[in-house]
Amino acid sequence: MSRARGEAHPEFARRGSMLLRRAMVLALALALTATWSRPRLAAPAAGGHVAVTAARRQPRGQRASGGGRYSQSSNVAAALGSHATTTAASAASAGSKMEAAAAAADLRASFREVLLSRRRNLQVPLTVEHGSPVKDPLYQGSPPMGKSEAMESCPRKAVGSFKEKLIEENFYLITELGEQGRLPVLLLKLNDTAPKTKPVIVFLHSSYKCKEWLRPLLEAYASRGYISVAIDSRYHGERASNNTTYIDALKSAWRNGDTMPFIFDTVWDLIKLGDHLSEREDVNPCRIGITGESLGGMHAWFAAFVDTRYSVVVPIIGVQGFRWAIDNNKWQARVDSIKPLFEEARIDLGKCEIDKEVVEKVWDKIAPGLDSQFDAPFSVPIIAPRPLLLLNGAEDPRCPVPGLQEPVSRAAKAYEDVADKFMFIAEPGIGHQMTANMVKEASDWFDRFL
Ligand SMILES: *[C@@H]1O[C@H](CO)[C@@H](O)[C@H](O)[C@H]1NC(C)=O
Ligand SMILES: *[C@@H]1O[C@H](CO)[C@@H](O)[C@H](O)[C@H]1NC(C)=O
Ligand SMILES: *[C@@H]1O[C@H](CO)[C@@H](O)[C@H](O)[C@H]1NC(C)=O
Repeated sequence: MSRARGEAHPEFARRGSMLLRRAMVLALALALTATWSRPRLAAPAAGGHVAVTAARRQPRGQRASGGGRYSQSSNVAAALGSHATTTAASAASAGSKMEAAAAAADLRASFREVLLSRRRNLQVPLTVEHGSPVKDPLYQGSPPMGKSEAMESCPRKAVGSFKEKLIEENFYLITELGEQGRLPVLLLKLNDTAPKTKPVIVFLHSSYKCKEWLRPLLEAYASRGYISVAIDSRYHGERASNNTTYIDALKSAWRNGDTMPFIFDTVWDLIKLGDHLSEREDVNPCRIGITGESLGGMHAWFAAFVDTRYSVVVPIIGVQGFRWAIDNNKWQARVDSIKPLFEEARIDLGKCEIDKEVVEKVWDKIAPGLDSQFDAPFSVPIIAPRPLLLLNGAEDPRCPVPGLQEPVSRAAKAYEDVADKFMFIAEPGIGHQMTANMVKEASDWFDRFL
């Protein structure tokens, strides 16, 4: 089918955009000195490739976690590491590719096992329940102020009588037993007879927000011929009853260890969503993209890592080195985003202040493996060879760029044979914020690859 192409917003005049891209790539080069082989964006000063110092580092941080429950991880990491350090006689390389593929499959299986560990008794067949539009969406914490200029800037296609042509579906997928096992879904698409199937993009919202927040993006992509899908993450939107539901759930997971409200439980839902989407008659199952902002970027990253049906992947300000942050005393901004959880843990652990040990213990309890075998250096590269665009602010304290050095180097290595399918952009001068430029880059990426 023909690709829907958006009409560029005037502020993204090609020339300005090119300059900005160069600036970003240069910033990246300076910040990272990481492998870089992206012809379209090659920074002239660096001659297309930026010298690598980091790519051949050995894996580290394989600390024993959870009393050896995940002991498989060291082997997986070692296998990936040995792949990354292999220099290329082609036979050896074919062998190591098979080894890497096997290691990737093992890592996915281990992650599925962790997801299953807390829901073995909760499993039900996937079913769909009818829903209706949410009139007054629940935002937790401070309510969003006005519109998001970044989302409003997303390229759209001019479609006559757009509102009339837009089909909106609201439904629930039953992903497991229990109140949280009801996944609210909002789907938008154009009512047109051809093509018969369309590409889909799944959009994931940030902490404390909800699927309705993403509507400008959903509509923009729908105007361009995509099916746009958003969900409420666990304990958000329709899955919350008041403005502390998410924080309450995080604290409860710390106390009881029976749920995984940070990232993992929502990834379970995203696997189920993948089941649903790939069976729909209006969907091309080979063309399911996934993206998200902040917590949503983490969801996109982990869903794509574990479920290969997500075929084009754009995590925005979400990928980070959890272990790196602990080892380098850079975990504070992340902790601050869900502070009451860590305060609770600090008190339980009898400490005067939140420290590295508190952070480690919390992750181990509520998201086992997050700062070890499933951390970015191991889970990001195995998204290869599916097109992967990582978008970040160069000054983001929650996803610090130095903590991305290892995952980006390893990913660059994993994408060596398909270098145009991997890109990392750290936008200069930007903190933890999704910018109009990131929205544009994501949009171009999906148009190009999905
Ligand atoms: C939750 O709502 C109550 C009452 O509306 C308000 O006082 C409180 O500050 C809110 N809490 C947060 C975290 O926004
Ligand atoms: C789609 O449009 C056709 C007319 O072009 C109309 O008959 C049909 O009801 C519309 N479908 C939906 C779901 O709105
Ligand atoms: C908020 O909702 C949660 C469940 O979502 C509940 O456990 C808690 O008691 C509620 N808090 C208030 C103040 O209503």
